[in-house]
Amino acid sequence: MISDPDVVGLLYLVAIVCFIFALRFLSSPKHARKGNWVGGAGMVIAIATTLALDGIGNWALIIAGGVIGSVIGIIGARTVKMTAMPQMVALFNGVGGGAAALVALAEFHVAGGDLGGEEIVSTVLSALIGSVSFAGSMVAFAKLQEWLSGRPIVFTGQNVFNVGILLGAVALGVALVAGVDEQWVLIALIALALLFGVLFVLPIGGADMPVVISLLNAFTGLAASATGFVLDSLMLIVAGMLVGASGMLLTLLMARAMNRSIANVLFGAFGQVQTGAGGTRVDDGRTVRATSPEDVAVQLSFARKVVVVPGYGLAVAQAQHDVRQLAELLEEKGVDVAYAIHPVAGRMPGHMNVLLAEANVPYDQLKEMDEINPDFPQTDVALVIGANDVVNPAARSDPASPIYGMPILDVDKAASVIVMKRSMAPGFAGIDNELFLEPQTTMLFGNAKDSIVKLIAAVKAS
Ligand code: TAP
Repeated sequence: MISDPDVVGLLYLVAIVCFIFALRFLSSPKHARKGNWVGGAGMVIAIATTLALDGIGNWALIIAGGVIGSVIGIIGARTVKMTAMPQMVALFNGVGGGAAALVALAEFHVAGGDLGGEEIVSTVLSALIGSVSFAGSMVAFAKLQEWLSGRPIVFTGQNVFNVGILLGAVALGVALVAGVDEQWVLIALIALALLFGVLFVLPIGGADMPVVISLLNAFTGLAASATGFVLDSLMLIVAGMLVGASGMLLTLLMARAMNRSIANVLFGAFGQVQTGAGGTRVDDGRTVRATSPEDVAVQLSFARKVVVVPGYGLAVAQAQHDVRQLAELLEEKGVDVAYAIHPVAGRMPGHMNVLLAEANVPYDQLKEMDEINPDFPQTDVALVIGANDVVNPAARSDPASPIYGMPILDVDKAASVIVMKRSMAPGFAGIDNELFLEPQTTMLFGNAKDSIVKLIAAVKAS
């Protein structure tokens, strides 16, 4: 048992420093693994210190909770597929928010509603934000898991109704702060906040869920921080703030990379198929040219510089290992290979980095958008694998396009572009892509994994 507050403070400080270093390391794929370890070490120190505090008891419950949580966590983390990562994050995030709300309720119950000014404000905030985050994350999970339709679910008067529910919850919170000490008021507040969480996420399209999850993650951080005030835990206050701030930054970065405002993501019902919107193809006589693995293999083998552009389709096809193999074959032939990483390629932040890191692609070959874009005019072949919106030139040239202004990878400036996808179907934004009709572009149709396996065989044979 640790009873010296200075020792507790010091151990918590060490844990906090670990968290800050973890965030720093996680910002680069090179150090991300180390970041995970340092963050994990910080968490072990924080939990061990808390459990060793004077007055901690009920060990049977603590151990049972710890064992159940660890088993679910380990099995979940080991079995989840890379494409299911966003919903996994949604689940983890949701339970964090739910825990904050439950702690608030428990503290209110233990104190019989008799809480001081600062404590009751924190309890209300913890219950309100934690419940919204829990319910919202569960809906986000259900949408990503396709248990619920990914399409925006809307009804007339939705915004007014939602604001009404939120105001109702806030009014109950104000009553509690003003001195009402009835437990049912807090329970009603939690019920309204849960309902708001559900209604807030329902109208958002499934494909925007990563941004929503990141925002809800920021909410969970704030709820945890408020819980830190309730429990008088400096550790929780700081850790919650770190989550809140990084979640908010990530939300803003994702929105900026898509050139959309947070309001557009939350209220724009984006991801519905656009008909007749800007970016749709005009029948101007140009035709799509399909190619074969053999032709592509010859082009690649004789190129000086090839830039691979991975997108969501690469993740779906799980072709990352095959891509690395293909790149290594080309390098053996003296071809200079690099990978162009768009910040929102795929469906979650860092999706492509994680995918390629899993396949042991050397980090120095991964080039961020701003770094690689000036290289496209000197590139012989841009090999676009399962990417669509992030290479759509309409973002530069068509002010009527829904993605106009979104920064893109300038693959159309390469001497030759090969696009690997299964059909002419649009990507996430639901719009056609003029790149596929450009004279320098040829399409290699098929599942990305199958196509790359054929390409590898053809390159070996060439
Ligand atoms: P998308 O524009 O969604 O295009 C992916 C393409 O992959 C599709 O056109 C699809 O065409 C193809 N594909 C799917 N499965 C395939 C398979 N098995 N084999 C080969 N091709 C396959 O992807 P992107 O270029 O990566 O852009 C990402 C989009 O998601 C952006 O619009 C972005 O704003 C949005 N978004 C991203 C994030 C983050 S944080 N990354 C968050 C929210 C939204 P076929 O069906 O014809 O094969």
